[in-house]
Amino acid sequence: MADEQTQREDGDGGVATAQDSLSITDNRTGETYEVEVSDGTVRAMDFRDIKVSEDDFGLMTYDPAFTNTASCRSSITFIDGAEGILEYRGYPIEQLCEKSSYLEVAYLLIYGELPSREQLDQWVFEITHHTYVHENIKKFVEGFRHDAHPMGMLLGTVGALSTFYPDAKNIDDDQERHMAAIRLIAKMPTLAAFAYRHNLGLPYVYPDNDLSYPGDFLSMMYKMTEVKYEPDPRLERALDVLWILHADHEQNCSTNAVRGVGSSQVDPYSAVAAGVAALYGPLHGGANESAVRMLERIGSVDNIPDFLESVKNREEKLMGFGHRIYKNYDPRARIIKKHVEDVLEVTGSNPKLEIATELEKRALDDDYFTERKLYPNVDFYSGLIYEALNLPKDMFTVMFAIPRTSGWVAQWREMLDDEETKIARPRQIYTGAGERDYEPVDGREQRVETPSGTDQTNTVNPAA
Ligand code: CMC
Repeated sequence: MADEQTQREDGDGGVATAQDSLSITDNRTGETYEVEVSDGTVRAMDFRDIKVSEDDFGLMTYDPAFTNTASCRSSITFIDGAEGILEYRGYPIEQLCEKSSYLEVAYLLIYGELPSREQLDQWVFEITHHTYVHENIKKFVEGFRHDAHPMGMLLGTVGALSTFYPDAKNIDDDQERHMAAIRLIAKMPTLAAFAYRHNLGLPYVYPDNDLSYPGDFLSMMYKMTEVKYEPDPRLERALDVLWILHADHEQNCSTNAVRGVGSSQVDPYSAVAAGVAALYGPLHGGANESAVRMLERIGSVDNIPDFLESVKNREEKLMGFGHRIYKNYDPRARIIKKHVEDVLEVTGSNPKLEIATELEKRALDDDYFTERKLYPNVDFYSGLIYEALNLPKDMFTVMFAIPRTSGWVAQWREMLDDEETKIARPRQIYTGAGERDYEPVDGREQRVETPSGTDQTNTVNPAA
C-alpha cells in the first residue's frame, strides 16, 4: 500500500499519541529506542541516535531511488494508486478535465485555490502577453543542427531564459516568482514550436494573442501561408485536456529534480531546466513513444494473440501498461481514451486505435495482467493523439514538458516556502578503497581499462 498511495497528513495535524511510536531494539547493544510515527512515517534523522558507541555516526536509512521515502510534505497532488484516484489540490482529475482549462489548473496548482473570474482573466491575459521570446533565443534555436532533438533544444533554451531574466534569482520576491511562473508557462509552447519548426526547416511562427493557449500552440506549429490560423475547437480541447492530465504527478523523477536543484536556491529557469532534463529520459517522458512503436510492430488485430504470448513469455513488454503507483486503471488513461476518438474524428481514422482498443480488451481479460494489476496508463493512448496531430515521435516528450511546467513551478514554490527545506544532499554508503598513498605516474601500473576517444578528436593527421 505504501508504494501505491501518497500519505495523507494525520487528522490531528500529526501530533503523536502514546501508540504512535515504534520501539526498536538494537541487537548490537541491547538498547531500546522509541521513534515517533507521524503521518505514517518515521523521521530518518531519529535513527541517528541509534549508536553502538559515543563516537559512532549513528544509524542511517538506505533507500536508493526513494522507493519508500517521503522527501517532502506537499499539498499539491494526491494519488491513491490502489483506487485509481488522482486529485489536484483536492479536486478530482475527472472534474477538472470536464469543467476546467489547463491555464486555470496551472493557477490552481501554483496558488492553491481556483481563481475568481477576475483572477482567471488576469492570469490568462498575463500568460497570453508573455508568449514572445527574445529574438536572441530564436537565434539560439537557429544554431542547433537541423536534426537536433527537440527536447535537447528545449533543455538548452529553457536554461538560457535564466540569463534573460536575471532578477528571477531573487527567489524570495513574490513578484519575481510570479513573473517567472508566467514567463515559463507562457514561453514553453513557443520554445517547443520553434524547435519543431527548426527540425522541419520552416520559418518560426510568432504567437497569436487572439488564440487560446492550446490554439496558439497549434498555430505556432502548423500555420503556413494562411493569414490567420483557425484551430479546430476539438483539437484545442483535446490538447487542453491532455495538458491538464500531465500538469502534475507529485514526486516523480523530474519534479524531484526540480526540487533538488531548486533547493540550492538557483533561479527557477535553471531549476525547471533540470526538470526538462529528467523528463528527457526514456524511463520517464518517453513511454508514449514506445507504446506507439509497439502498436506499429503489432501491425494488425490478428497479431495481438501472438504478441500477448510473447509478453507473457517475457520476450516483450506491453508498453503503456503498468505503473509504479497505479495498481488499478490509471484515471488519466480513461479520460484520454475518449479524447483520442474526438481527435481522430477531425484528423481521420488511425488503424492503431483499433489495435490499441482490442489489445487493452484482451489484456484485461487475461489473468497474467489482472493478477499483476497491470492496467493501461496515461501513455497507452496519448501517443495516438500526438500522432494524429502529425507530430514526429521526437516531439512526444516535449508535449509532456509543456504542461508539466506548471507542476514544476508549483512544486518549486512549495519547496521554497517549506520551513524544513534545506539543500538536498543525500548520504552515501562508501564502498571505495581505503586510504592509500599517491604513486608517481612513471612506474605506476595500469589498473583499469578506459575506452579510447582519440578517433573522435579534431586533430588532423596528414598521414592518415
Ligand atoms: N508488460 C508486461 N509485464 C509487466 C509490465 C508490462 N508493461 N509492467 C510490469 N509487468 C510485470 C513485471 O514483469 C512483474 O512481473 P513478475 O512479478 O512476474 O516479475 C510485475 O508485472 C510487476 O512489475 P514491476 O516491474 O515490479 O513494476 P514496477 O512498478 O517496477 O514498474 C513500470 C512500473 C511502469 C516501470 C512498468 O509497469 C513498465 O515498465 N511499464 C511499461 C512502460 C510504461 O508504460 N511506462 C509509463 C508509465 S506512466 C508515465 C508516468 O506516470 O510517468
